[in-house]
Amino acid sequence: MSTGTGLGGATAQPLTLSKLDKVYSSRGRESFHAVKAMDLAVQPGELIALLGPSGCGKTTTLRMIAGLETVTGGSIMIGDREISQLPPGKRNVGVGFESYALYPPLSVRENLGYGLKARKDPQAAERVQAIADRLEMADLLDLRPAGLSSGQKQRVALARALVRNPPVLLLDEPLSHLDASARNRVRRELKVLQREFGYTTIVVTHDQVEALSLADRLAVMNAGVIQQFGTPDEVFDDPANLFVATFVGEPQINIIDGVLTGDGTVRLGSGTLPITITDQSAERSVKVGIRPADAALGTAGDAGSSDGLAVTVRFYEHLMEFGLATVDIPGVDARTVIQTPAVQRLAPGDQVTLTAPADRIYLFDPTSGDRIR
Ligand SMILES: Nc1ncnc2c1ncn2[C@@H]1O[C@H](COP(=O)(O)OP(=O)(O)OP(=O)(O)O)[C@@H](O)[C@H]1O
Ligand SMILES: [Mg+2]
Repeated sequence: MSTGTGLGGATAQPLTLSKLDKVYSSRGRESFHAVKAMDLAVQPGELIALLGPSGCGKTTTLRMIAGLETVTGGSIMIGDREISQLPPGKRNVGVGFESYALYPPLSVRENLGYGLKARKDPQAAERVQAIADRLEMADLLDLRPAGLSSGQKQRVALARALVRNPPVLLLDEPLSHLDASARNRVRRELKVLQREFGYTTIVVTHDQVEALSLADRLAVMNAGVIQQFGTPDEVFDDPANLFVATFVGEPQINIIDGVLTGDGTVRLGSGTLPITITDQSAERSVKVGIRPADAALGTAGDAGSSDGLAVTVRFYEHLMEFGLATVDIPGVDARTVIQTPAVQRLAPGDQVTLTAPADRIYLFDPTSGDRIR
């Protein structure tokens, strides 16, 4: 298919991981279970962000899909084709890994065109030029890889993954070395290209802003296990467990030890807040999650109103578009951060009332971390 842009288009394919498993074992070292029975169904043309802390198994997952790492168990399907035992070159997967070596003696232009020439693509030169223009790197085409900065190398790696029009595109931290403004622009362009050409895409990142802005759906991963898979709104508004709630959201959600009272409130220190919850069994300890932007502080001096908590401001940061107040809830050890409107200037020592909508107060089991609903 030719779209007239010199780039051509890929035929969108679903990518399905079933019970995918990876155990690293090497002689003389303890084996390590890096990816645990992972199920993930990516729709044709969908962009998934794989988000999680360092060491959780993101790169391992991509490397298994790309064929750069063996699979310990489970299957990887593109469309109805099982690919997990195929050599990398037969998988039809575009890979943008930073560590993926460029051939040093060739120019960037030759590096980008290499695979296309091998396939005898008559439009190789046009494609290379078109993708370089779109990624703001046309000025790099005649340089050698050794002369590039890490941000420039990263753009070359991204271009190389895109130029072959893969039906499935795997990108591992594709923008991490770009400066802030280039990063925003290239991120938008990447999303536009992905939409235009319909690559089924997995982007690995531990930058949640990148994940939230790029992804149709997020897979939040920890310790080799997907904790939640859903749209950014679902993951943010309805976190499956304590890990997801604390990992997604900036500033981070407040987690406070509390007690579920059984009468429609949760006790925090010496006060209570109303909650909406169906599980109203006997009194039990819970972890209470309140996002900084969900709560509000009443004006100074009104502490003690009935449906809120009387708190004391310890610290106030005015961040131009909004403020962040760090407050003490009486009887609670941890400090609580509340986002406030820019016009509400607070000062240390102010006594104010903290309120939060009942349906925005999250409760978690203190042992398992599971949501209590
Ligand atoms: N070849 C290997 N042999 C043994 N253990 C490995 C090997 N490669 C990775 N690991 C381990 O597997 C785990 C997952 O690694 P992986 O590179 O997939 O993490 P990641 O989520 O990509 O982290 P990061 O965000 O830091 O890139 C880590 O604990 C890592 O130490
Ligand atoms: Mg990694």
